[in-house]
This record gives sequence, structure tokens and C-alpha cells, in this order.
Amino acid sequence: MSNINNHKIHLSPPHLSGKEIEFLDDATASNWIAPVGPHLDAFEQEFASFTGMQGAAAVQSGTAAIHLALELLGIGRGDRVYCSSFTFIASINPALYLGAEPVFIDAEPDSWNMSPRALRRAMKQDALDGRLPKAVIVVHLYGQSAKMREILRICRHFDVPVIEDAAESLGASYFGVQTGSMGMYGAFSFNGNKIITTSGGGMLVSRSIPAIDRAKKLATQAKEPVPHYEHKEIGYNYRMSNLLAAVGRAQLRQLRIRIKQKRAVFEIYQDALDRVKGFTFMPEYEGSYSTRWLTTLTVDPKFTKVTRDHLIETLAEQNIEARPVWKPLHTQPVFQGVEYHPHSNQTSVSEGLFEQGLCLPSGSALRDVEQQWVINCILARLREERQRFVSISSRR
Ligand SMILES: Cc1ncc(COP(=O)(O)O)c(C=O)c1O
Repeated sequence: MSNINNHKIHLSPPHLSGKEIEFLDDATASNWIAPVGPHLDAFEQEFASFTGMQGAAAVQSGTAAIHLALELLGIGRGDRVYCSSFTFIASINPALYLGAEPVFIDAEPDSWNMSPRALRRAMKQDALDGRLPKAVIVVHLYGQSAKMREILRICRHFDVPVIEDAAESLGASYFGVQTGSMGMYGAFSFNGNKIITTSGGGMLVSRSIPAIDRAKKLATQAKEPVPHYEHKEIGYNYRMSNLLAAVGRAQLRQLRIRIKQKRAVFEIYQDALDRVKGFTFMPEYEGSYSTRWLTTLTVDPKFTKVTRDHLIETLAEQNIEARPVWKPLHTQPVFQGVEYHPHSNQTSVSEGLFEQGLCLPSGSALRDVEQQWVINCILARLREERQRFVSISSRR
């Protein structure tokens, strides 16, 4: 087999619409490059309106948005913060910047996101011990919402605020409500691999305008609103520039199309590979509308005779980028000994997902011929392995 045209097929590359240049031209023509400007205000308004929130603060990364949310909740040294274990480390890093103590909660099988069962068990125990967390960070992975009804019910019962890490789920909804708009704060990322990008950037959303105003102040070195530089507290340099906001506005206009494209990519994989015994695609459960930001599946070598890692190697040989799903945070060396609550006493769902979970190239601009190439490479490797298995078995 030889690659279609020898160029690399990436996991989720940026997808520009061509409109970005018009918005950038406007920003440069008016000399509004940075720090703030009309595109920044407009991007925030348009974004808040898309998510159904009252206010939004555009910042330099999704990590910064989570950091500000934790600051707004007054998280500090020694406070316990619960977080999904099955996620990227950026979900919890800002809690550690603030000296908080992380507690990891497992995933559950329907959504691959936070397990309400594990959350309830942890909260009940912590309520009895008088050490409830000060916040819960719920992550919506790979374009799909967590089971927010149950999670919010539990958090409301114990009076613990929820921050949604919607870095990977912009445009996904749960019973018609946008992810990132169900908790107290929602954090989004516009990193280069996200469904829309500003090259790097993030957004914090909230129903509270005073909270968003405070986030903007904290993101501007906590400068007091007086003509000279007056500071009563320590802040950050986290604001997005007007130039990147211009790119963000053009990208946001494409979001609905991008979701359709990502879902179409998923459907093609599903049609071609769903019948393979041992392949199980990430489910889209009742009430969830996933953007399918990344197409993910588990590979059970008992049936496929190849592991997830074998498939990644096979694809890499053909210049195709595929990756394992996130390694659960409670298994990361840096979090050795950190408290962890599995889905049940017998099962750690996130560990099982990590063992077998695979992310396939899912760019919204992925061409049919490229996707067919990815599928052919996978099917060819499976066939090879099956033949080897049959010939070894027949020799025995
Ligand atoms: C789940 C999750 N949380 C947080 C982040 C952090 O976003 P950023 O890279 O914009 O800081 C990312 C992505 O990068 C992510 O995938």
C-alpha cells in the first residue's frame, strides 16, 4: 500500500473559512490590534449569545478560563476540588496553581464522562467527614456532554458550585441546552485542534455579569478602573487580543457547519467499521447531541487480534495521526497518591477506556479520499492479523 499523496493526515487540524482575513483586515485597518477593541467586545457578545449565557470573557487559553473560574469561586490553599479523571491535565492544573487539593472522579460507560454514581458516593462521604469540595470541574470530552442532570442534582444537594470544562465540546448540547451553560461557569478553548480556533485562546462564560466583569479585571493584571496604574490585588495577563478575537468571530460563524462536518466524518467511520467485532464507538446517549469533535472508539484485542497501539503504529507508518484517548489523571505519575473515586468498587471505567480507546483523524476538512485511506489501512491491518492468527491456529 502507498499513501494517497504522502501528506500527513492530522487528528484535528485548524479549518479556516477564508472569512478570517476579512475580519483581520478590518482590525488592522482600524489599527485595533491589541490589547482590546471592537472585535473583542463583539466576539464576547456573539459567543455569550450562542451559548445562551449573559456574559463572556475572552482570554488567552481554555486553561486561563478555568483558572479565572476557580479564582471567582475563591478557591485557595487546601480547598478540595473534584475533577473528572478522564481528561487532559489542563482541566485540573489551575486548581494546583491555587494550592488546592485535587480529587478525581471516574467516568461512566454511557457518556465516557464524569460518573454521577462515583460523584454521589464521594460527596456523601465528604459531607459526613465535613470536608466537602469547594468546586466540581465537570469535563465534556470529545464533543459530548456529561450527564449534567444527575451531576447538577448532586452538586445542588450538597451546595457545591460546578465549573464546566467545555474545551472540547463547543456546540454540543444536553437535552437542548449548550454545554458550558449549565453550571456556574463554563470554560472553552480555541486551541489549534478545537472545533473552532483562534490559534490559541479561550472563553469564560457565566450568567452573572458582575462575575464576568471581575474575570476581565483579573485577566488584566487586576488593574483598578482609575487613570493611573492602581492595584489592590494580584491578577494575570490573560486577555485575548482584538486581532485573535477577529479570527474567532469568523470561526464562530462556521461553527454549525463544522459540527455537521464532524458528525459526517463520524458517520462514515461508523458505517465502515461498526461491524468489526471488537470495535465500539463512543456512544451518543439519550439527551446528548455530540459534535463528534473527535471520532473515538475502543478496540478489544480479544476479537480484533490487534491492540489499539498496533493500529496507531500502522496508521503512523502511513503518515496518519491517531492517538490513544486521555490517560486518566489519577494514573499520572504527577498525581500519584491523589484521592480517586471509581465508578464502582469493581470497575474503573476510565482505566478501561484508556487501555483500549483510540482517537481517529477527525478534521472537519478531511476529504473523503483521505478518510477512505484511513479506513482501508485499518481494515488491511485487521485482515493481516486475522490471517496470521488463522495460520498459527491451523499449525497447532
Ligand atoms: C478537556 C480540556 N480542558 C482544557 C483544555 C485547555 O485548553 P487550552 O489548550 O486552550 O488551554 C483542553 C485543550 O487543550 C482540553 O482538551
